[in-house]
Amino acid sequence: MVDNLTTIAIIGLGRVGTALAVLVGRHALGNLRVCDHNLNKIDSLKALLATPVTVCSTPAEAVAGAELVFLAVQDRHLAGLAENLAESLAGSGRADLKGCFFAHLSGALTSEVLRPLAARAAVTFSLHPLQSVAAAANGAEALAGSYFTFEGDERGLVVASDLVKVFGGHLVRLAAADKVLYHAAAVVSSNFFIALEEMAITLMTGIGVDAETARQMLLPLIRGSFDNLERVSPAEALTGPIVRGDDQTVAAHLAAIKKKFPEYVVSYRLLAGLNLDLAMQKGGVTPADFPSLKSPIVEIKP
Ligand SMILES: NC(=O)c1ccc[n+]([C@@H]2O[C@H](COP(=O)([O-])OP(=O)(O)OC[C@H]3O[C@@H](n4cnc5c(N)ncnc54)[C@H](OP(=O)(O)O)[C@@H]3O)[C@@H](O)[C@H]2O)c1
Repeated sequence: MVDNLTTIAIIGLGRVGTALAVLVGRHALGNLRVCDHNLNKIDSLKALLATPVTVCSTPAEAVAGAELVFLAVQDRHLAGLAENLAESLAGSGRADLKGCFFAHLSGALTSEVLRPLAARAAVTFSLHPLQSVAAAANGAEALAGSYFTFEGDERGLVVASDLVKVFGGHLVRLAAADKVLYHAAAVVSSNFFIALEEMAITLMTGIGVDAETARQMLLPLIRGSFDNLERVSPAEALTGPIVRGDDQTVAAHLAAIKKKFPEYVVSYRLLAGLNLDLAMQKGGVTPADFPSLKSPIVEIKP
């Protein structure tokens, strides 16, 4: 199906829009038309692309002649962009958007946000890359091989699935009603993990190690945990004082954290509680083994 596409448009050249544009160019998937209101982003894309690109000054201009359009803008701008596009395309005299696929890339929003375009006969869907793209420059490498979730008009499934296959990724279908919980899982896995590592780095600075050294020291440990998780379930991958039943260690951690970083006591205890749940799945420990986690949480103001 993607072989039949002649033109793909991408509106918004941020982290994901640029990564997608690079993949479209790399796999020679057709003419590429792009639009972003920041000229620096267009220049950055051109530096990453080895193939030609048509730069358009408005979203409506980018969409002209495109069979597949990605709205790669921030989630908060999607509804307005879909509405403006539908209006300006109607105003330009284009009878309808039959045969045209419009997709957004949000994990939390459903294809419903593209309703103004669906109302003009476009096929609309969401195609969320389950990946953290922190910088446009290496985004294409991050997206290739990732899972993408499809939700929306079934007529878009073949094009989405072909595209993801070309990118070397995997496609999973989602019901609209499941998107929010799915996205919460993604946020826990990616964003909360980063916040957790920031906490670990800060605790390490408490012994006089600078933050950059702490980050480097922790990376092999993170990779070790990651490797374990690649092989076995979280319960089996779990190591540390809680799964060993060492309450004295946990109590000592809490006392040391309370002394130097009282703002982290509540987070540590919450996470220790989750760890205990997991350790119980593995077997061998019970909540009674951890009196330090049972004492009431004292409200600590940072
Ligand atoms: N980054 C990730 O890790 C990630 C992962 C999965 C999915 N997503 C999804 O991907 C989508 C894009 O996210 P992102 O992180 O790539 O965002 P981003 O880096 O903030 O990029 C969005 C780009 O769109 C531009 N833009 C906004 N409105 C526009 C308009 N009307 N016309 C032209 N350009 C416009 C923005 O310009 P200004 O900056 O000037 O507003 C910006 O350059 C979102 O739906 C997000 O949920 C992101």
